Amino acid sequence: MSFLEVSDLRVEFPTSDGLVKAVDGVTFTVERGETLAIVGESGSGKTVTNLALMGLLSKRGSRLSGSAIMKGETSTLELIDLADDQMRKIRGKNIAMIFQDPMSSLHPYYTIGDQIIEAHQAHNEVDIEVSTARAIELLEMVGIPDASNRLKAFPHQFSGGMRQRVMIAMALVNSPDLLIADEPTTALDVTVQAQILKLLRELQSELKMAIILITHDLGVVAGAADRVNVMYAGKIVESARVRELYANPLMPYTHGLLASIPRMDRGHGKRLSAIAGQPPSLIALPAGCAFAPRCTFTERVAGGSDRCKSSMPALTEHTPGHFARCHLEGAKL
Ligand SMILES: Nc1ncnc2c1ncn2[C@@H]1O[C@H](COP(=O)(O)OP(=O)(O)OP(=O)(O)O)[C@@H](O)[C@H]1O
Ligand code: SF4
Ligand SMILES: [Mg+2]
Repeated sequence: MSFLEVSDLRVEFPTSDGLVKAVDGVTFTVERGETLAIVGESGSGKTVTNLALMGLLSKRGSRLSGSAIMKGETSTLELIDLADDQMRKIRGKNIAMIFQDPMSSLHPYYTIGDQIIEAHQAHNEVDIEVSTARAIELLEMVGIPDASNRLKAFPHQFSGGMRQRVMIAMALVNSPDLLIADEPTTALDVTVQAQILKLLRELQSELKMAIILITHDLGVVAGAADRVNVMYAGKIVESARVRELYANPLMPYTHGLLASIPRMDRGHGKRLSAIAGQPPSLIALPAGCAFAPRCTFTERVAGGSDRCKSSMPALTEHTPGHFARCHLEGAKL
């Protein structure tokens, strides 16, 4: 059994306009010590998938079904529909999450020391000195110089990149088995972004945790993840190991995402090809492939664009570990 097994996860939001199918039957696994990237355009369901795993979707505002089984050292837990008090014990201890904007997670009026120590105290019955030592250890681990003095600083006294390091320290203070990083570097400039991703990679090999890295940028994934799930309109449309996905994308949407990555070797003056058009409304999803209105490969499908529009392709394994949801059935793009 994998460390985390998510099966047929569905999240729907009833709204006055209709039922929003934000996550529409998502199945994937994550192994201990592995980084799984989840990539897709805005609104594809990346964040909602992970909020469901963290028990952070309002029970009244959303409908949740499916399963997410996490295998701990001593016990196995079904995360979907876990009682709130049980989830609170797990969140911040077994599963931690870091977000794009550390300022929304760090309290502006408390020192970062207080906040990291509090995160440790919440899950450990130890003296404050033990938690303080742990906070210093973590700040050193994430590369904050002069850690024992920096405990007394407030979030606004740090640069964006340093604040993100503080967030990572806080998330890791209880040595979680799973870290969910939701666009952790999007707000940072490219150099700092690379440093933070490198840091996550190093910490992971040291701490042997599983990471789910959410990003809209396939360019970020290259050196930062082992496997990738590409999401489109609430579904996984392609899944493979990173190198395999880059070398041999099987789904036109992935192909489009790869073509839109800025590359040094493309030279000046050559336009990036962003994917034309918009994703479909999640209230009125088409019967067939949700990417059909934007796809430039439909004529290569046996049956043509009519087949793409009328029938939803299954997520099919083409080579070991490489899955794609497309009627082109593994044809070279
Ligand atoms: N509480 C809610 N009520 C109704 N719709 C919602 C709610 N929360 C999310 N959605 C919708 O669910 C869809 C998926 O949202 P999600 O936040 O997972 O996207 P995302 O892939 O993380 O996008 P981004 O890259 O912009 O963060 C979006 O269309 C969003 O508008
Ligand atoms: S099923 Fe058809 S529309 Fe969808 S990605 Fe494949 S070729 Fe394009
Ligand atoms: Mg998001």
